[in-house]
Amino acid sequence: MGDKIEDQCCQDLTTPYMTFVWAEDENGLIGNAGDLPWNLPADMKFFKETTIDGVVVMGRKTYESIPKRPLKDRINIVLTSQLDYEADGAIVCHSKEDVLDYIQEKQLNKPIHIIGGVSIFNLFKDEVNILYRTIIEESFVGDTYMPEMDYKYFRVIDVTEGIVDEKNIYPHRFFVYERKKLMNLFN
Ligand SMILES: NC(=O)c1ccc[n+]([C@@H]2O[C@H](COP(=O)([O-])OP(=O)(O)OC[C@H]3O[C@@H](n4cnc5c(N)ncnc54)[C@H](OP(=O)(O)O)[C@@H]3O)[C@@H](O)[C@H]2O)c1
Repeated sequence: MGDKIEDQCCQDLTTPYMTFVWAEDENGLIGNAGDLPWNLPADMKFFKETTIDGVVVMGRKTYESIPKRPLKDRINIVLTSQLDYEADGAIVCHSKEDVLDYIQEKQLNKPIHIIGGVSIFNLFKDEVNILYRTIIEESFVGDTYMPEMDYKYFRVIDVTEGIVDEKNIYPHRFFVYERKKLMNLFN
C-alpha cells in the first residue's frame, strides 16, 4: 500500500479513469440503516488517502450518510432523480450521462471514484477500471449488499493486510484490482 496506482498497474492508466471504492464484510454486506455496519477507522483513512484530490460520485443516500459533507478536497457528485435537490458544495446530477458529460465538459483529468451505493455501482460496472475493495473478515447485521462483480475481468494487483489494534478490532484486507483490458471512459 502507498505505491501510486499508475505504477502498480500493468497497463497504461490515464486520467480520467474510473474506480470503485468500498468495504464489505465476509458476506458482501456494505450498509445498515443508512450507515456503515462497522466502525473501522483504518478503512476510513484508506478511503480518504485513496480518494483525496479526485472526484467522488455517489448516490443521494450515501451522500446523506456522510456526517461532514461534502467530502473535502474532492469534487463531490451526487446522483438523484429529484430535480430540485440541493447539495451545498456538491454537483448534482440526474443520470449516468449527466455525470459523464460533466467530467468531459470540465475536463476533469482526475481519478473518478464511484463510492456507492448499490445502484451507482451497478450503473458504472462497464466503465470501471480499478477496484479498491476492503474485505472485513467478520459477519455484521445490515440491509445493503454489494452487487455481484464480474471478477474474472479483473486481476489483483495489490493486497495489504490491515493492522488490528484497539481501534480497529476486525481483521481486514485491502485489495486492489485492475481490469485486465482497460476500458476507455468516453467511447
Ligand atoms: N461499505 C461501503 O463501502 C459503502 C459505500 C457506499 C454506501 N454504503 C452504505 O450503503 C447505504 C446507501 O446505499 P444505497 O444503495 O441504499 O443508496 P445510494 O446508491 O447511495 O443512493 C440511492 C439513491 O441514488 C439516486 N440514484 C440511484 N440511481 C440513480 C440514477 N440512475 N439516476 C439518478 N439518481 C439515482 C436515487 O436518489 P433519489 O431517491 O433522491 O432519487 C436513489 O434513491 C448506506 O447504508 C451506506 O452507509 C456503504
